[in-house]
Amino acid sequence: EEGLHATKYPWEHEKLIKTFDHAALRRGFLVYREVCSSCHSLNRIPYRTLVGTMMTVDEAKALAEENEYDTEPNDEGEIEKRPGKLSDYIPAPYKNDEAARAANNGALPPDLSLMVKARHGGCNYIFSLLTGYPEEPPAGAVVPSGLNFNPYFPGTGIAMARVLYDGLVEYEDGTPATTSQMAKDVVEFLNWSAEPEMDQRKKMGWKVMAVGGTLFAISVWVKRHRWSTIK
Ligand code: HEM
Repeated sequence: EEGLHATKYPWEHEKLIKTFDHAALRRGFLVYREVCSSCHSLNRIPYRTLVGTMMTVDEAKALAEENEYDTEPNDEGEIEKRPGKLSDYIPAPYKNDEAARAANNGALPPDLSLMVKARHGGCNYIFSLLTGYPEEPPAGAVVPSGLNFNPYFPGTGIAMARVLYDGLVEYEDGTPATTSQMAKDVVEFLNWSAEPEMDQRKKMGWKVMAVGGTLFAISVWVKRHRWSTIK
């Protein structure tokens, strides 16, 4: 059963002449860290990719160092703990799927790295999902126990409860942290995590157009010039 069709929003970063808004990515990552990361992993994102896209080197290093990672086994086969570094990946909240399910009433919070690409509707779907929990399920809706009503989720009964509420985080740039602002920022961040190369790709596209367009113009000019005696 399909969920309610997500509203189509005019995402700035989806426009061909726009890159990601790096202040929005920074805010979105804060939302991920403070809200989503207690249940959802972001397995494909190493700290180094945050550098230059939403953080300075020092900030990313400091963040990596907040977590401990296993060392390679030494000659005796012993594994020790070391602070994280830029090449490490953002740690998952649970040891494995079993532990994740045990903490979430049997449901598995999926990894969010590629979620924008994995779900039909992408950004629009995730934004609608995060902001679409009604105060009360509509009259007549059957919501199995342990699930929450959300019209955008296929089947409408979702194990994740509403997580975003006005003022839940505090943005350092002073942006008011409304529910929709946080949803918008975290969705943009998740689009970055699914397509970190998007800005590069668009820039390359423009270069290809510029160089290709110039070459084409030259070839038209040369053709006219060469053929002019025949005409
Ligand atoms: C599912 C996003 C916070 C628990 C999902 C899904 C998305 C998502 C996109 C997939 C829905 C689908 O399958 O179509 C987010 C974001 C969060 C957040 C962006 C932060 C803003 C949380 C938190 C928890 C949680 C804090 C735990 C307390 C779950 C669970 C599912 C889920 C258990 C599986 C739902 C099901 O299959 O019924 N979330 N989530 N999420 N999330 Fe979250």
